[in-house]
Amino acid sequence: MTNDLDFILEHYKNPQNFGHLDKPDIVHEEGNPSCGDQIRIELKVENDRIADIRFSGKGCAISQAAASIFTEEIKGKTLEEVKNFDKQKMLDLLGIEISGMRMKCAMLALKIVKVGAYGLAAWRDEDE
Ligand code: FES
Repeated sequence: MTNDLDFILEHYKNPQNFGHLDKPDIVHEEGNPSCGDQIRIELKVENDRIADIRFSGKGCAISQAAASIFTEEIKGKTLEEVKNFDKQKMLDLLGIEISGMRMKCAMLALKIVKVGAYGLAAWRDEDE
């Protein structure tokens, strides 16, 4: 039986959308200051939709699995839908208990897409 932790580990071992895009429309990279891990996300946008997405970089199992799961989730979604994607939705998607220390790991990919696509200063302030 697959439990939620297996789901995370599976994405960590076999990340989806890992790599680079040819001529992405948006590229944004950020790190988790508490550990120095860094993730880069590349987006291709067509007709206000995420036509394609890739991530690269290094990070712990939670941050890498979260990037894999999140990029799968938002591929094909409209920018408006992505804009409305919040922390709670990300936690629901991951399906495991995330402790305070690990919250930045779990939210890194979401933060990068939001800051990259919209320059959402509010998100950045809220997170510091
Ligand atoms: Fe670095 Fe999780 S410990 S992103």
